[in-house]
Amino acid sequence: MALNSPAQKLIIRQPDDWHVHLRDGSILEAVLSATSRVFGRAIVMPNLQPPITSVEAAKSYRERILSSLSSGADFTPLMTVFLKDGLSPDVIKQGWHEGVFTAAKLYPAHSTTNSSDGVSDLIAIDSLLETMENIDMPLLIHGEVNDPHVDIFDREEVFIERHLAPLLSRHPGLRVVLEHITTEQAVQFVEANAGKLAATITPHHLHINRNAMFLGGIRSDFYCLPVAKRERHRLALRKAATSGKKCFFLGTDSAPHTRAAKESACGCAGIFNAPNALESYAEVFDEEGALDRLEAFASVNGPSFYGLPLNKKTVTLIRQTNIVPLVFELLNKENEKLVPFHAGETLQWKLEENN
Ligand code: DOR
Ligand code: ZN
Repeated sequence: MALNSPAQKLIIRQPDDWHVHLRDGSILEAVLSATSRVFGRAIVMPNLQPPITSVEAAKSYRERILSSLSSGADFTPLMTVFLKDGLSPDVIKQGWHEGVFTAAKLYPAHSTTNSSDGVSDLIAIDSLLETMENIDMPLLIHGEVNDPHVDIFDREEVFIERHLAPLLSRHPGLRVVLEHITTEQAVQFVEANAGKLAATITPHHLHINRNAMFLGGIRSDFYCLPVAKRERHRLALRKAATSGKKCFFLGTDSAPHTRAAKESACGCAGIFNAPNALESYAEVFDEEGALDRLEAFASVNGPSFYGLPLNKKTVTLIRQTNIVPLVFELLNKENEKLVPFHAGETLQWKLEENN
């Protein structure tokens, strides 16, 4: 990492995104371009419709991603398998040993977008988790209970108490990533169990608290799952992300939904932050006086946890006015649009082109 003083320019090892939704079909190419412009690798979420539950499906999705890359782009999609009730441990083993699956994703059924086929009973998939523990394959968790009686703002905390703590006790050797954490309870739990347990943190949960969803009216652009929480949780997340601790790393959870899907009567959960993800994180690290720790969070802690080599290239961020466009055109035949995170705002950092 090279940092001059006062920092006008920041050169860091190329980052990876340890949690992204690239989708499929007519939106894949445009969405992928926003991620591959900066990240070397990304953990690709399997919650397509239908979800990725076989080795063959993951291989063919990986092919579609690779063939959608613009020429010259150097980007590696790391595939995941969607855990569902009754999935055979043989699928997990085969996908892992063939180098197709980098991890498996656990969505409690009905906890979020496209998760209706998720796991309804964690105990019932214990043999899958045991297989993963034995082969040392990471488990990625959407950590929210799906119990409608639990207040939506408490669902992460309750998941940790009811499900995650017992799961870690049952499988002490399992590597687990608690994805997109949103609470100070999650920060503390991850710190207390660091080693086998780590967490990703999104740019949006570092920038917004729950007020953003209701600023002057209902703001679907800021609705995601887990939902943003109170200010004190945002501050705990900022402290964790910028701490340099190995158990916290970058995962954008960039989750595109078209304008129309966000604006419908039952708007979809998800924030599309890929077009300015690194710049958005840099802003937070700058505000926290921690630019010297951005590289650990963005480019070192993730691969170290996954046991993968660090990227060799570097990327350069310049301190420069960066006005985020109001819309991101998908340029598909349906002429659909996305609203990017920070739309209309001015960021202070910009990725230097042709890195
Ligand atoms: O906000 C979210 N959107 N959270 C998730 O867990 C899923 C994601 C999506 O797929 O849209
Ligand atoms: Zn996600």
